[in-house]
Amino acid sequence: MKKVYIETYGCQMNVADTELVFSILEKKGYSRCEDISQADVIMANTCSIRDNAEQRIIGRIDQFVLQRQKREIIIGILGCMAERMKEALLSSGKVDIVAGPDSYRRLPELLEAAGEGYPQIDVILSREETYADISPVRTDKNGVSAFISIMRGCNNVCSYCVVPYTRGVERSRDASSIVREACDCVQKGYKEVTLLGQNVDSYKFEDVDFARLLEMVAQVSPSLRVRFSTSNPQDISDEVIEVMARYPNICHHIHLPVQSGSNRILEKMRRRYNREWYLERVAKIREIIPDCAISTDVIAGFCSETEEDHQATLSLFREVGFDAAFMFYYSERPGTLAARKYPDDVSLEEKTRRLNEIIALQNSLSLESNRRDLGKVFEVLVEGESKKSAERLCGRTGTNKVCVWDDTSHKAGDYVKVKVLDCTQATLLCELAE
Ligand code: SAH
Ligand code: SF4
Ligand code: F3S
Repeated sequence: MKKVYIETYGCQMNVADTELVFSILEKKGYSRCEDISQADVIMANTCSIRDNAEQRIIGRIDQFVLQRQKREIIIGILGCMAERMKEALLSSGKVDIVAGPDSYRRLPELLEAAGEGYPQIDVILSREETYADISPVRTDKNGVSAFISIMRGCNNVCSYCVVPYTRGVERSRDASSIVREACDCVQKGYKEVTLLGQNVDSYKFEDVDFARLLEMVAQVSPSLRVRFSTSNPQDISDEVIEVMARYPNICHHIHLPVQSGSNRILEKMRRRYNREWYLERVAKIREIIPDCAISTDVIAGFCSETEEDHQATLSLFREVGFDAAFMFYYSERPGTLAARKYPDDVSLEEKTRRLNEIIALQNSLSLESNRRDLGKVFEVLVEGESKKSAERLCGRTGTNKVCVWDDTSHKAGDYVKVKVLDCTQATLLCELAE
């Protein structure tokens, strides 16, 4: 049996795709391998979202090549960077296979041909492929949490973003195959599923929309936690928020990327909402689910961003009081609308300063958010031992906060009640409440 090692970069969609790839390859007699020095096939499932993501992978390919100097192996590049860079990756002579996100069914034949010494490339994007019939080989070490892809691609053309080019057009997966996969997770002992898509609120398969799909998955089992990501502020509907409120097993957390607090910048980004709309959606979420956590993504220093625009982002952060955020500075991506139309005119120094200001503000908001939880009791799903001690467990609340507490009587996959005694900006320090 040939052993396959895969390194996964980028978003959760890539984690889910790597699990599909393992499944496709296992059916053809390959086995999964976690030790790179033992592998016959070394692959990276890659991300193109920002330049530094790509640079990291380019550096990694050189280390793969060092392995190939020691023994005969095949090197493959999968995912978004394969799709974006295409032949350029092959012509480096460093890799044997380049396969885009819609080509994974062909990997066994690509591997075979590459094994005979012929470099292979398949970067054709599909309008239909959802891999609906493939049951993924789960890679979560604790066996607690599983990702379920509900759609692929993206039909928004946010001007800064490479995803529509690397992932192709949006398509929703057959709802019954999603429910089947959730049932299968329950049978295998998983306690949490996260439904994944670039814009889950635009899910539509026949007459099933996202609100209905969420309800169908929540009904699979009351002890299965349901999460989802990502919600686009322009599309998140009242029905989705109402379904969340109706089912106790749907986690009270919404990831709602805002990108900027300035209407002028939002328009240039081609986001299809403005600040007022965003704040109204936040108000609606809090009206229907008062304890709902809200997290976000933001980009500092987009083309033409002024100090005033930046201040508008900071004030929006203060106004919403996000529980968590992923924060980036703008990285121009070749071929996107912004790269073609707008000069990348905020200096790196200025981008970094603005980003650091946002990070400092968010750190204090995260701490405030955690302080509001002091004294509260939460049901958490145990994920495993804490990093620091085998006598401490860690797990997350429905609101996606990490808790740690002393405990030698529970294990990964248990639900336990904990009381919050203290906190840092990143963690709730708790004790068992029962
Ligand atoms: N579909 C999701 C976003 C997926 S990409 C959504 O629309 O919200 C994840 C995050 O990466 C984005 O939310 C954005 O904040 C960031 N991002 C995307 N392109 C970027 C770029 N060119 N430079 C910096 N950050 C970027
Ligand atoms: Fe990119 Fe916008 Fe699609 Fe998100 S919604 S993946 S930011 S184009
Ligand atoms: Fe990166 Fe592709 Fe995801 S560009 S963020 S791996 S969709």
